[in-house]
Amino acid sequence: MSGVNAAAVTVRASSAVGALIALGVALSAGGVAGCRGQTSDDPPILLERNMYDTERYNPESYSQFFADHRTMRAPVEGTIARDRYEDDPEVATGLLPDKSGYAMTVPPAAINRAGGIEKLLARGQERYTIYCTPCHGRTGDGKGMVVCKRQKVTDPCESRGFAPLPSYEDPRLRHMPDGQLFATITHGVRTMPAYGPQIPVADRWAIVSYVRALEMSQMADSSQPTEPKK
Ligand code: HEC
Repeated sequence: MSGVNAAAVTVRASSAVGALIALGVALSAGGVAGCRGQTSDDPPILLERNMYDTERYNPESYSQFFADHRTMRAPVEGTIARDRYEDDPEVATGLLPDKSGYAMTVPPAAINRAGGIEKLLARGQERYTIYCTPCHGRTGDGKGMVVCKRQKVTDPCESRGFAPLPSYEDPRLRHMPDGQLFATITHGVRTMPAYGPQIPVADRWAIVSYVRALEMSQMADSSQPTEPKK
């Protein structure tokens, strides 16, 4: 009697193990199949959620909460970026303190902050090459690659249809106060776009100094007794 019972117990036990294995196989097969190419609106099941699913708005999305329904809030009026704050009005605008006209020269404060004229010029050359060369050309002749289509700088300028640019050698530009050059970069002029939003104040003054250096280097050449131009 007891032997039969023992056998029955053994049979039951082994079938239980078999059922467990079968369940395991079925579950893992189901798990693999369930991950294939199916999308779901339900959040993924994560054992440790941490900050995986923090509440947030999508950019430009609709808000039930704010009266104007904008999730992207406008900064308080008068807000400026911390690194864009300039408390010296002459440095900020290029205008004389009484606003009667443009500052004739780069404000000493701008030179001092850059760590001297040499550093200012070096920075200016770098920034000029990035921001102005494409249109005005390396020497400021107004024949950059946006304006002229050509293989080599020595090739004649084949216009791409861009408005003609003045050369910095133009006496009108040579006699333009430094502050006006600064304001030209800040606000643009006629067909030239404004670069104030892209170029910080200090870099604008650096570029002004470099443009002056470019003009001077060309003046120095033209004052030398050389062969007349043909
Ligand atoms: C997208 C091309 C473009 C870029 C980049 C550009 N300029 Fe100009 N710039 C022009 C054009 C076009 C004019 C002529 C505008 C006119 O007279 O209609 C001009 C004119 C000027 C003038 C003469 C303004 C006047 O009163 O006649 C100055 C000075 C000048 N640019 C400086 C700069 C400096 C400095 C930079 C770099 C920060 C720069 N520009 C970048 C296109 C450009």
